Amino acid sequence: MKELLNLMQERKSVRTPLDTKRQIAKDDLLQILEAGRWAPTAHNMQNFEIIVVDNKKLLESIGNIKRPISETFVRENYKQLSFSEEELLRKKTGLLGTMFPPSWRNPDFKLDKNEKDDSSMQRPFPVCPTMLFVVYYPAKRAPASEGDFLGALSLGCVMENMWLMANSLGICFQIVSSLSSGTTEKEVKNILHIPKNLNIAFPCRLGYTVSTPAKHLRVRRDIKDFTHYNKFGSKDLG
Ligand SMILES: Cc1cc2nc3c(=O)[nH]c(=O)nc-3n(C[C@H](O)[C@H](O)[C@H](O)COP(=O)(O)O)c2cc1C
Repeated sequence: MKELLNLMQERKSVRTPLDTKRQIAKDDLLQILEAGRWAPTAHNMQNFEIIVVDNKKLLESIGNIKRPISETFVRENYKQLSFSEEELLRKKTGLLGTMFPPSWRNPDFKLDKNEKDDSSMQRPFPVCPTMLFVVYYPAKRAPASEGDFLGALSLGCVMENMWLMANSLGICFQIVSSLSSGTTEKEVKNILHIPKNLNIAFPCRLGYTVSTPAKHLRVRRDIKDFTHYNKFGSKDLG
């Protein structure tokens, strides 16, 4: 039990470049896929396909795709930011502002004209030896699930299973949502020959760090902050 909890607590996002010379062993990759395979899915629909990408040229092409930033993203992202470790510890949710470019730490963020015109706000894409793209058929929704909410939850279970397995094998993992929306997703789909009727649920970078990454502060709410007893709002354990 303790081991499982430790694994969950130690699972983390690694956003630094990963060693392109150190490939993930095939057995480890299969273990990660096996973990995804056993994820619970609504109606056991197993509503996913997974594309493993370890070809250098393909990874380079994906890394070179422009990932335009929307003003909406930056403004909504801003609401989750803290500007000191003390603030983050107090809030217990969200992220440290220093993770993002200085221009994103501005509540009135506006793309300037050039950025709007040529989508040139290219962010560096940290290298990695392997990526996984979990894709799904949006048309095959979980039965009677509005907006395929249950299908999306199922994909989240696949993600967590694979992330925990990667972590237990010492393999770093990062989700890169910017590759799964808008024109960027279209470009990825072209590069990987993903059929039009499939969408990318989540792309992830996998690999090993070159050096030990600097520890970053990870916060969570306390159990009492989100737990209610017998009725919503009741915090009294009795
Ligand atoms: C659905 C989903 C999408 C995410 N997208 C990104 C992303 O695009 N880039 C990123 O660096 N982290 C992404 N994350 C990771 C979260 O930011 C991260 O899990 C959270 O800040 C907690 O940090 P931890 O993973 O280190 O515990 C995503 C996580 C989830 C569940």
